[in-house]
Amino acid sequence: MHILTDFPRQQLFELLRTMPKAELHVHIEGTLEPELIFALAQRNGVTLPYDGIEALRAAYAFTDLQSFLDIYYAGAGVLLHEQDFFDMAMAYFHRAAADRIVHAELFFDPQTHTARGVPIGTVIRGLTRACDTAREQLGISSALILCFLRHLSEADAFDTLEQALPYREHFIGVGLDSSERGNPPEKFARVFARCRELGLRIVAHAGEEGPADYIRDALDLLGAERVDHGVRCVDDPLLVERLARERIPLTVCPLSNIKLCVFDTMAAHNMATLLEAGLCVTVNSDDPAYFGGYLNQNFVETFQALPQLGASHAVQLAKNSFDASFVSDEQKARWHDELARTVARFGPEQAAPLTAT
Ligand code: ADE
Ligand code: ZN
Repeated sequence: MHILTDFPRQQLFELLRTMPKAELHVHIEGTLEPELIFALAQRNGVTLPYDGIEALRAAYAFTDLQSFLDIYYAGAGVLLHEQDFFDMAMAYFHRAAADRIVHAELFFDPQTHTARGVPIGTVIRGLTRACDTAREQLGISSALILCFLRHLSEADAFDTLEQALPYREHFIGVGLDSSERGNPPEKFARVFARCRELGLRIVAHAGEEGPADYIRDALDLLGAERVDHGVRCVDDPLLVERLARERIPLTVCPLSNIKLCVFDTMAAHNMATLLEAGLCVTVNSDDPAYFGGYLNQNFVETFQALPQLGASHAVQLAKNSFDASFVSDEQKARWHDELARTVARFGPEQAAPLTAT
């Protein structure tokens, strides 16, 4: 990919903010802002172990994935009714519209809710109604991906799948999230085999904190079509070659990686290395309410910290987000055209080489 060094920096950030894009790695429970947590706690009569919004926000000082997950699962405890799930997802969709997201594939964690006695139908109905409303009111297309919590058992995952099947038409695929270390993909090989038989699309978190081996196992043992995070692939050059050759997308989440100490600083992030290796990398927000920013903030902070990234990378990342999404080729082509039209508005000198990348 060639780098446009002469593209003015200010215009680069304008391009990042205004280009159409897809978000493929966002946990809807991770979009629950402290303000909404407190509002829902009050509405539902739930007592929180924090004095107020600022005290809760102050607790968001994470040292690793587990330290985040403990607080994240507790925050989701205020979600009880269909309307709560609808309100949470609509708040995300309004942020998404502001970031020029035209398509979002949302993860949800049913076991976090069913374990508290909230029926899976309540979760799926609320989220589905929000997806429908987002299309009608904001012009954003979206889909739901059901994630299994990997710290729980295979039997619990099978049981969750069974509970979800009456709502089969409301989700397009399944994923695997939660505590990665010590919970390898092989633990869920049989669940994912069943999901593939059911025609579900397959993604999995791998290589966030866990080793590169977990990425290979997510591909070979689960049938993952996309790898969530995957940044540890660089530890295995043969794996990097395979990811590039088979064009397996990585849904990378830069701010998440910094907040969970996967990298010490954004300047140390391997985003540019992954792009230069020819991987189909995408930028995503993961759990934006907890990690300090939604999708455009991820783009902006990444490009600020990595000056070797320029306009051609920005456009490549937007293209990758469409290519890696689970939509039809016709829809992908329409978004590619829309992206080209946005790039063209930045002036013919910049637009010509950009559209050729
Ligand atoms: N659940 C929500 N965010 C997650 C992450 N970054 N890794 C694993 N599981 C998650
Ligand atoms: Zn994630």
